[in-house]
Amino acid sequence: MSSSADRARNRIELLVPNLTPHGAVAPLGHDACHGPMTSEHIVIVLGVGPGLGLSIARTFASRGYTVAILSRSKARLDAIRTAVANVRSHWPERRIGTAIYNASIRVRSGFMDLDGEKVKQSVDGSITGGFAFAQAALESMLEHGRGGSLIFTGATSSIRGRENFAAFAAAKSGLRAMCQSMAKEFGPRNIHVAHVIVDGLIESQQALDFFGMPKGSRFPDGGVLYPPQMAKTWLFLAQQHPGSWTHELDLRPAKEHF
Ligand SMILES: NC(=O)c1ccc[n+]([C@@H]2O[C@H](COP(=O)([O-])OP(=O)(O)OC[C@H]3O[C@@H](n4cnc5c(N)ncnc54)[C@H](OP(=O)(O)O)[C@@H]3O)[C@@H](O)[C@H]2O)c1
Repeated sequence: MSSSADRARNRIELLVPNLTPHGAVAPLGHDACHGPMTSEHIVIVLGVGPGLGLSIARTFASRGYTVAILSRSKARLDAIRTAVANVRSHWPERRIGTAIYNASIRVRSGFMDLDGEKVKQSVDGSITGGFAFAQAALESMLEHGRGGSLIFTGATSSIRGRENFAAFAAAKSGLRAMCQSMAKEFGPRNIHVAHVIVDGLIESQQALDFFGMPKGSRFPDGGVLYPPQMAKTWLFLAQQHPGSWTHELDLRPAKEHF
């Protein structure tokens, strides 16, 4: 047990005077992303289908960031490290500042129909892939020493299991626990680890087809998550100042039950 004197000493260590003044506070959405300066900052997004991943990539690109998108054809789960190394060597004068893991393999199956292979796929898509990606990105961030952000996409299954989603819930909740551990280990080293719980259906052509909606139609506002609106949250997290970090937040449409 540490004494209260020890605890006080530990707090005091956090407050060792640093005479560098804080920078000016910019209006919401106008800060530069945490980490290397904008002109040197690479944003890397893994898991880029036509929906969320692409909107996140576009949002950062619109702010002048160099964005590398890794999709299945370029970065199979077993080659994530090589893909991240390729991004680094493609822009040797720039540094990975924001790394976003958006991939997942959504296994849907009754529990008795699950087999080891399906569980493995689910775990590979979230935990093994997320781990390899995080390690490769962290290696780069620790090497350049200017800090950065690692942001992971979660789902309702990250915090709530339900029927037919045992493998997916195990994988997503494991990823969430891994994020918490990384946040605690790397936060003091100026690397912000955040986890976004996406609690609802993301609008996509697949979702429109599933509900039998006619071609060209849209879900009404507030019914589903709309990727270009969601993507602003990733930018917001990446822009947070080290004095005000969010580790986890949830996003859901207005009409979602929770
Ligand atoms: N769709 C939803 O309604 C919803 C709801 C809640 C949370 N989420 C979460 O939001 C994120 C994006 O979801 P999404 O629906 O846009 O796409 P998704 O189908 O869940 O997959 C996300 C990305 O993972 C990659 N991926 C999918 N299957 C893969 C496989 N077998 N092997 C390797 N990579 C694979 C794909 O990237 P590439 O094609 O580039 O390889 C895809 O863009 C995911 O983390 C998901 O769990 C989605």
